[in-house]
Amino acid sequence: MDKFIIEGGYPLKGEIAISGSKNAALPLMAAALLADGETSIENIPGLNDILTFNNVMRVTGARIDYDQKAQTLNINPDNLYYPEAPYELVRKMRASFYMLGALLGKVGKAKVSLPGGCAWGPRPVDLHIEGLKAFGADIKLDKGYVVASVPEGGLPGGTYTLNPSSVGATVNLLLASVRGKGTCIIKNAAKEPDVVQLCDFLQQMGADIEGKGTSKLVVKGVSKLNGVTFRNASDRIETGTYMLLAAMHPESDITLKNTNPEDLGEFAVWFKKTGATYEIDGRDMKIISPEKIKPVSVITEIYPGFPTDLQAQWAILMAMAEGEAHITDTIYPDRFSYIPELARLGADVSVKNNSAVITGGQQLTGTSIMSTDLRASVSLVMAAMYAEGTSEVLRVYHLDRGYEGLEHKLNKVGARIKRVEE
Ligand code: EPZ
Repeated sequence: MDKFIIEGGYPLKGEIAISGSKNAALPLMAAALLADGETSIENIPGLNDILTFNNVMRVTGARIDYDQKAQTLNINPDNLYYPEAPYELVRKMRASFYMLGALLGKVGKAKVSLPGGCAWGPRPVDLHIEGLKAFGADIKLDKGYVVASVPEGGLPGGTYTLNPSSVGATVNLLLASVRGKGTCIIKNAAKEPDVVQLCDFLQQMGADIEGKGTSKLVVKGVSKLNGVTFRNASDRIETGTYMLLAAMHPESDITLKNTNPEDLGEFAVWFKKTGATYEIDGRDMKIISPEKIKPVSVITEIYPGFPTDLQAQWAILMAMAEGEAHITDTIYPDRFSYIPELARLGADVSVKNNSAVITGGQQLTGTSIMSTDLRASVSLVMAAMYAEGTSEVLRVYHLDRGYEGLEHKLNKVGARIKRVEE
């Protein structure tokens, strides 16, 4: 397992290119299995989660060619003959559960492993299953697998209200319902840009979806979907992560390239409340870091609210602020495994129920810290970059799942990060 050795205290100067979005790519990859014919998706980042999902899709017999240099992925499902997704692969990456909707939508049957546990949780899939049942699918649970089938001609249709709103369940219900004869209505659907992009992609394939970008999606089944060429969006969570990092040091001067600022939702407003700001020039975003960081309390919400995937990173900026800030996660109440590690660096932090309290202004001192999950690991790297002296961040394989070339991108602008094989 690799670790990072990080020298802290250096301002960042220069340009950081944002990669394609992991969470927006995964639904597109699953949706490509619904087509008759080949699909080509551009701007697919070379991340471990992408490579894992490629292997999950290969199990079905689909032909998957990924050109990591060109960041282009070609998917041809014409030879799909084995509608299954095994535990060994699904447990590595939860979004493999999208295979349930894709296989049901394509061949009318599926045997997909329930996703395994997660560093925080629970992360149930009850909404996925209840929604498919409401649309007329036959679903059984058998030895840790979901075994599902739909009547001849596809899902008969129906209406299902997500409570709470769920990105993954919205994706799976869309994938299962776009081909068929029925009308499926998803209420309280997720409105994340990842879901809007999926609707764009499916419509380009020939799907009939009304209500894109709203919380009510009406899907009328069609008999055929065609392969397409499509460009994946930039990663809004990677963008938010590097915005926060660039705001941490008053002498940092960072411009982010290939951004989609409109995908940031309310995060952009919260960001400016800290005293940081940015200037947009086309798809470039120049970050202006403040002399002093103001403490700002946030509560995570579904899109367009403050994203849960940025709350760990926000905590690090608050550790640099002058005063007390509260972070409340309403999506994942226990997503605070990074807090005890941050305390080891000398931060004044604590967790009570689903809120963290950070009193900024302490000088952090480098030491060894342990990553526990994707977003927690990047927040520890951020903290180590501004702790005094040397830190080592262990188990950076978590990072490799969601941040393409992180140490290369950051060293290019002045960070001192060395990857060491453990
Ligand atoms: C997606 O996960 C993202 N993953 C997560 O990003 C992100 O944190 C999450 O959405 C919330 O924004 C991908 O896009 C691959 P949900 P997902 O279903 O779809 C509850 C990262 O770091 N729920 O929107 O699994 C659930 O417990 C990852 O990149 C049910 O109750 O999230 C949670 O409280 C981590 N029953 C809430 O809904 C269900 O059947 C939102 O979860 C499904 C979800």
